[in-house]
Amino acid sequence: MPPNTGPLRLGVNIDHVATVRNARGSAYPDPVRAAKLAEASGADGITAHLREDRRHISDADIDALMDHLSVPLNFEMAATDEMQKIALRHRPHAVCIVPEKREERTTEGGLEVAREENRLAHFIAPLREAGCRVSIFIAADRRQIEAAHRIGAQVIELHTGAYCDFHAEGRFDERDAELERMREMAGFAHSLGLEVHAGHGLTYETVKPVAAFPEVMELNIGHFLIGEAIFLGLGPAMAEMRRLMDAARA
Ligand code: PXP
Repeated sequence: MPPNTGPLRLGVNIDHVATVRNARGSAYPDPVRAAKLAEASGADGITAHLREDRRHISDADIDALMDHLSVPLNFEMAATDEMQKIALRHRPHAVCIVPEKREERTTEGGLEVAREENRLAHFIAPLREAGCRVSIFIAADRRQIEAAHRIGAQVIELHTGAYCDFHAEGRFDERDAELERMREMAGFAHSLGLEVHAGHGLTYETVKPVAAFPEVMELNIGHFLIGEAIFLGLGPAMAEMRRLMDAARA
């Protein structure tokens, strides 16, 4: 399979529209309205993470996204029985399996696939049979990628959080080393036949080097875009992100 030479897909994560809504226990801002606006502004997909504690996206949001979206929904979830039932009921286009700890502020690390290979293989099999494209959110680690491949995932999403944190903290040597690891592992995953996505913590400053990896087909970006939308509006914020992604690709 040759590396992707077409434009990168942009998946917009709307979790934090729900975070703002839930801060006041009100009905607004509505994440589904944001998703429709993102769709109208050229998003290739919408990502939403239904967390165990429902701290942002709710079950009703997932119902409404499934009813109202025309672009694919990438349903992020932990590998629990509850989430598997919900995914099998909705059969979204894609399911992204992420690690989840109650006490974390965001998804802090990648999934430990290698340690839980057997369980995860059984966990994702029915999702695949239901027609969902299964993606595994992992660090740029050869062992994890090999395990994701063995369990039958079609996609890996590389966790860009460490790279973005190093950048924000001015730890540029570590940032560049992490970027190099991701570049190498994107190539390795692609060589196994896995589709490669990336995301977490990406901003206008950090997106370009990741978008330039020829194997990467999709970036999933949320928190920064929703924050930028306060100043620019969601459409213009997305347009600038898209411009940077396309420039990196060219
Ligand atoms: N991809 C995955 C798997 C995630 O868990 C998240 C965060 O929910 C993102 C992408 C988007 O990260 P951010 O909101 O920091 O852009």
